[in-house]
Amino acid sequence: MLYKLNLPQPTDLLEKIAIDIAKSYTINYDSIEWHKKIQKENTNIVSGIFKNRDDLITQTRSEYQKFFTHKIYPTIGLLENINKNVGHTGCYPPHSDRLRHVVLNYYLELGGENVVTTFYDKYDDPTDKVGGYVVKYGDLNIVNQYITKKGTWYNFNSRQYHSVENIEDRRIILSIAVDTDFLTFYNSYKNIYNLSETENKVICGASEGT
Ligand SMILES: [Fe+2]
Repeated sequence: MLYKLNLPQPTDLLEKIAIDIAKSYTINYDSIEWHKKIQKENTNIVSGIFKNRDDLITQTRSEYQKFFTHKIYPTIGLLENINKNVGHTGCYPPHSDRLRHVVLNYYLELGGENVVTTFYDKYDDPTDKVGGYVVKYGDLNIVNQYITKKGTWYNFNSRQYHSVENIEDRRIILSIAVDTDFLTFYNSYKNIYNLSETENKVICGASEGT
């Protein structure tokens, strides 16, 4: 499930730092190989990389820590389709996030107009403190799918298995992990959830539940 949050947009300075970090990344072949081991041979897996930098941490906390009593940990994510020149859209296959349970995402570049974030019917065990596993598409059932937009903060339980489909070029994400479990987060910060917007505008209905 993907939620919209009522949080302010990042400042120009924070966006500049984020884009600068993303531009410094190289292709993460280890990540591609890790997913390739279990997916079908012809799956076009994008390069995925998430890192932080001191100026990113300082600036993000100066803009967003005040909204949370739990500590926040920003990273910049880049999902990059390395086969865009031959016209294949790419995917970042189903996985749970490593270490983090709660994610706030703000998309600086979408990677295409029809990039779909998909959630599946599998969660890591709540007692698992580590997470970070990959699963075959064929072993999961889709629960919901969403097309995200720019200019909005999104939130989800990152221990629910999720994937990103239909990436044309590069998707740049300002991604904040919050140091708590999802249920605690949801119950602690209900005031920032924009539930009506989440239901009405984000769900990609044609694919839901299939
Ligand atoms: Fe993820």
